[in-house]
Amino acid sequence: MRREETGFRKFLEDLDKAGQLTRIKNSVDCRHLSALGGDSDKAVVFENIADYPNWRVATALVSNRDRLAIAMRCDPKRIAFEFEQKSSKPIDPVLVNSAPCQEVIMEGDEVDLTRIPIPMMHLFDGGPYISGTFAISDDLNHGRNVGCYRLMYRSPTETGIDLVSPSDMRYYYQKALDKKEPLPIAIAVGVHPLDMLAASYKAPIDVDELSLAGGLRGTPLELVKCKTLDLEVPADAELILEGELLPIGWVADEGPFGEFSQISGDVKWNPIFRVKCITHRKDPIFYMLQMPWENDWLAAPVTEAAGLQALRVASVQAVDIRAPVGSCGYWSLIASIKKRPGEGKNAVAALLSVAEVKFVIVTDDDINIHNQDDLDWAIAFRVQADQDALILKGARAKHIDPSVKSWLLGKGGLPTTDKLGIDATIPEGVPKHLYRRIKIFGQDLVKLGDLT
Ligand SMILES: Cc1cc2nc3c(=O)[nH]c(=O)nc-3n(C[C@H](O)[C@H](O)[C@H](O)COP(=O)(O)O)c2cc1C
Repeated sequence: MRREETGFRKFLEDLDKAGQLTRIKNSVDCRHLSALGGDSDKAVVFENIADYPNWRVATALVSNRDRLAIAMRCDPKRIAFEFEQKSSKPIDPVLVNSAPCQEVIMEGDEVDLTRIPIPMMHLFDGGPYISGTFAISDDLNHGRNVGCYRLMYRSPTETGIDLVSPSDMRYYYQKALDKKEPLPIAIAVGVHPLDMLAASYKAPIDVDELSLAGGLRGTPLELVKCKTLDLEVPADAELILEGELLPIGWVADEGPFGEFSQISGDVKWNPIFRVKCITHRKDPIFYMLQMPWENDWLAAPVTEAAGLQALRVASVQAVDIRAPVGSCGYWSLIASIKKRPGEGKNAVAALLSVAEVKFVIVTDDDINIHNQDDLDWAIAFRVQADQDALILKGARAKHIDPSVKSWLLGKGGLPTTDKLGIDATIPEGVPKHLYRRIKIFGQDLVKLGDLT
């Protein structure tokens, strides 16, 4: 008897119940999946993929905040707060002996990535991509690690992987490379969005993101041992690729790819992932994570929660926080706070410390940070550039921001960036009553509707 679904398939069910999922029964060419998925205002499951009889493909699952809120089971505005609260209560995974993700096993000569409907996603991409992965690695000193890393199809047994940015897996890979050894990794495709959130969260290196995923789900993740590696993978995943990152360093062309920065990226130099074993369900659903929206909406709560944590450490009381999707959920943070004197600056400094965030605005809690007009008003009347703008020079950056000129760095180089923060809270010494908003005389007494 099949066990009860808790992961990816349960989420598809939840979307269905909420009227947020379309099922397409007509046969679809693998090369059209990206365009068709991008054309839908709902999540989509393609039930019939031409030339891939056993496969279905799901996409656009969390390409807006409302669908992510379904995954998190909370109000769309509370996702970051919910994420921060749940991630502070990790639940350790449990090991099981058999798993849906290992119903079909391809090893040795049988390994063939062309048997998976890996789509060509964007014009200019360097090849077909697996965009939504949950990548597991291990290290003697720091333990298990999970992150999301896209894979570019290269051959039936090899993919590229984007490992240019600083990350725990890049660090594990560098350690293996220093010893001229490969790094064993396992890739799960088709896991619950909460697992993806846990994986993409920049947790301290010793934190096990699988326990974090358990905390977010509110129940332990079930893991099963890999068939060829000393690693464990989520039992309820759809597809697993077992293999190793070859000890060659950053030498192989990878990309371009339609990046989460909403830019069609450049070719990068990266390592190669050699696949030694493929396992999947008997009726697998391939997850084509739609770029950039699904990536950006997954990034936003992670960045927001990191911002909330930074504010907490700085002893600043956060009221609301937002990583705008225009900044890809990564590069900007806007927060409102209950301010005590000086805390506007403390808050700006704290938020600028968050990984890739390079632009910050902090306001008081009378400002609705989801309303651009309200924000513009705060910036217009509460900011003096020489006193309220903070510039931080030479901080960590990401390659895909063209303004950091990473092409000048050569293979394996890491860029830096300057950051800007604006304290748009009421300045100390300015009386609050000077910000009293207009209220129309008698507006609570008479209504036009009562006269018509
Ligand atoms: C959908 C998705 C795809 C991602 N792809 C990559 C990638 O290809 N390369 C990368 O360096 N980071 C990528 N990220 C960000 C990393 O997953 C994130 O920085 C994570 O914290 C890395 O985990 P680690 O430091 O524990 O290894 C992606 C994030 C998401 C949500």
